[in-house]
Amino acid sequence: MGLKKDNVRTKALQIPIQPSITLENDGHKNALHVLIQPNIGLDSDVRNPVVELLNNNLANEAVLSQKTRSAHWNASGKGFFELHILFETQYKQLNEITDKIAERTRMLGGIALASFAGFLAHSRLEEQSAFIPDILHLLADHETLIRFLREDIRKCTDEFEDEGSIELLVSVMSLHEKMAWILRAYIEQEPVQGETQKRILRDE
Ligand SMILES: [Fe+2]
Repeated sequence: MGLKKDNVRTKALQIPIQPSITLENDGHKNALHVLIQPNIGLDSDVRNPVVELLNNNLANEAVLSQKTRSAHWNASGKGFFELHILFETQYKQLNEITDKIAERTRMLGGIALASFAGFLAHSRLEEQSAFIPDILHLLADHETLIRFLREDIRKCTDEFEDEGSIELLVSVMSLHEKMAWILRAYIEQEPVQGETQKRILRDE
């Protein structure tokens, strides 16, 4: 629903990646103004594409966070109070996710996207600024991100073998699955009549 039409996955990112350097000193020289690249068992040809992948996800999360915040601010009508609180809970969770992803880009020696322009350029979600997102739109966006995350986790596993990023992305995907479930449950018209309920009805 909120997915961009063009294939943004193939778009080349123009995010600065710090050049690799070799440190031949004790790390305390005043003249050392270059940024120190991590020596953590992941070569730059792995770290750089993972930083790009993480920045794509960072952009997704930032856009969805702002959309959720719009829903929080502009909620009105019958379920106002509940919705106001529900959206607040979720945009705070999304903000925490952005923080974790941004920090991971830094751990890998990259630079975290931080501008609105950058987020909009790299997000796989549309901003849809013309209207206030409702639960259905937010649910569709969560589900879109879950599908992309699943793909990126596979990539980090098969191509990059970066366990730290895999762990992070799996935890992010689980949070989205939970947020999506909560949104889905909220708009269900009738409670699911499971076996327990049927048993209770039979016993009455
Ligand atoms: Fe608020």
